[in-house]
Amino acid sequence: MSKVRVGIVGSRFQADCIAGAVKAIPEEAELVAVASPTKGNAAAFAKRHGVPNAYTDYQDLLRDPQVELISITAPNRLHAQITIDAAKAGKHVVCEKPLCITLEEADAMIDACKAAGVLLLYAEELFFAPKYVKAKQMADEGAFGRVHLVKQGEKHSGPHSSWFWDVAQSGGGAVMDLGCHGIAFCWWFLGKLKVKSVYSQMATQVHRDRTQGEDEAITIIEFENGAVGMIESSWNRPGGMDDSIEVFGDKGQTYADMLMGNALPTYSEVGFGYAVEKAATTKGWTYPVFEEHWNYGFPQEMRHFARCVRGKEQPISDGETGRVVQEVLYAAYASAGQGRKVMLPFYPKGVTKPIDLWRMPDRASP
Ligand SMILES: NC(=O)c1ccc[n+]([C@@H]2O[C@H](COP(=O)([O-])OP(=O)(O)OC[C@H]3O[C@@H](n4cnc5c(N)ncnc54)[C@H](O)[C@@H]3O)[C@@H](O)[C@H]2O)c1
Repeated sequence: MSKVRVGIVGSRFQADCIAGAVKAIPEEAELVAVASPTKGNAAAFAKRHGVPNAYTDYQDLLRDPQVELISITAPNRLHAQITIDAAKAGKHVVCEKPLCITLEEADAMIDACKAAGVLLLYAEELFFAPKYVKAKQMADEGAFGRVHLVKQGEKHSGPHSSWFWDVAQSGGGAVMDLGCHGIAFCWWFLGKLKVKSVYSQMATQVHRDRTQGEDEAITIIEFENGAVGMIESSWNRPGGMDDSIEVFGDKGQTYADMLMGNALPTYSEVGFGYAVEKAATTKGWTYPVFEEHWNYGFPQEMRHFARCVRGKEQPISDGETGRVVQEVLYAAYASAGQGRKVMLPFYPKGVTKPIDLWRMPDRASP
């Protein structure tokens, strides 16, 4: 069957990851277009990745008949509008995490894609990260007995672009940015069970001068079978990206450190080009990663999504997945605001951005 023709919206950090992922699966997909508003960025990206068409307006990319599937790697506040426009243009959508800002947007995105008969795929690469997939396979085989606790942590020194720090554009801080991965991960790992309650402790510990968002949080999710997910999200950990999981059952446990655990413990007095995302230095002791995209699962994710477009596989991460995460995000912020567990379903209407539920807890009334 023919390759799925992909257009990328956005041209910086995540756009490069998606481009690398698509180029790693030439039998399934190819890059045909990119759109980015900053003058020169789309053209530079197109040159860097060998993409034939570059646009400054994503609407032009949506009009390009070559494009079958778009990947949205624009800031969070734009995900919903771009998805809805793409659906109207008959394009399948891969949307980066978090799905959007509000639950109303999540529902509108799902409805628009359903009405247009296009796929809405949610880009949670942890479902495809080989080390984590192995942990889940062992858990599903019964290796750990009944799993009662799953932990996931994503921690680094803070985002690379200014819009992440501006809650009006991002919707929240470290929990919106990093916690969304852990929420999706625990839910997926435990078999997509219903979430019963959410508790979250949030604080701005270090970056008060830079953001109104939380830069440090612990979120606890209780699932319908009593199992617990615990998610650590931090923008306050120098030393490079840290992504790891721990899984506990009555018959065993496993630990997986996605990046440092696969890296080369290295000492260099002079330094070298690149160690790992967000590491400030390559001098002294460092943990350079290899096959970084593969370890995250980006090519595996795009392969699955391309095969979904061709009807060869059924999506394991879709708009509904993103919506589950979005509801837990709401509950996490509301919990931090109220200082207590929040029970699900939880859908306070008219919330402008999830972080308001923390900063202005009265917004949480249904
Ligand atoms: N899955 C992951 O692990 C992962 C990692 C990083 C980022 N992300 C997500 O990807 C998205 C982008 O993050 P990033 O790190 O690439 O940000 P970034 O700031 O590096 O890039 C954002 C891009 O969006 C473009 N953009 C802004 N307005 C636009 C518009 N109107 N139309 C089209 N493009 C527009 C910018 O020009 C830029 O190219 C975010 O939602 C983020 O949460 C996911």
